[in-house]
Amino acid sequence: MKKLAPSVLSADFSRLGEEVKEVSEAGAQLIHVDVMDGAFVPNITIGVPVVKSLASVTPVPLDVHLMIEEPDRLLEGFMTDHTEYICVHAEACRHLNRTVQHIRALGAKPAVALNPATSLAVLDYVLEDLDMVLLMSVNPGFGGQKFIPQTMRKIRELDRIRKERELTFEIEIDGGVGASNIAEISAAGCDIFVAGSAVFGKSDRYQAVRELLELMEI
Ligand code: DX5
Ligand code: ZN
Repeated sequence: MKKLAPSVLSADFSRLGEEVKEVSEAGAQLIHVDVMDGAFVPNITIGVPVVKSLASVTPVPLDVHLMIEEPDRLLEGFMTDHTEYICVHAEACRHLNRTVQHIRALGAKPAVALNPATSLAVLDYVLEDLDMVLLMSVNPGFGGQKFIPQTMRKIRELDRIRKERELTFEIEIDGGVGASNIAEISAAGCDIFVAGSAVFGKSDRYQAVRELLELMEI
């Protein structure tokens, strides 16, 4: 099943609960939460208390994207009743295999993200242990950037590897996804679509979710 994951990074933080409820009611299957530490990426966003509050306003599962250095120190805090995926960056983990096992032991689905310039090869020996791979289609740190076109080739290649090795992890795309490209990204083999500005940047967020849901089901 394909899933839409609106990213709260582009929401109005003064009305975060209401906006998250709105996209949940429109049918979004996940809520994507971008955690940034100002070190791994040049921006600081939200942390554990906000993630815990979000978990209490929506029944929709959380997709927690950690853009932080050495995430092991903080993993436990992001494990709420509603946390489905915890995603760490391969570039931020010294012992990626250990971190993936740690996430699984906490009870979340382990996911690993790759920056646009990072090769799929870094996941070669960990793919079997993952429930999801997040391919960044912009350089992480900010919403509203343009989709990097080479990502299309990366999605197709990862989908090919998945089939060849008979694995079942999901493929997620994050950055610059919207109504103009979501169908093509879906056709390339993507399962989970993060959309920040294409949902929360619109005046009618309910309608934006409905439209993307329709377009991604190819
Ligand atoms: C960027 C974040 C994204 C961001 C996407 O570092 O990981 O989740 O919110 O925003 P859009 O969809 O506007 O590119
Ligand atoms: Zn993200």
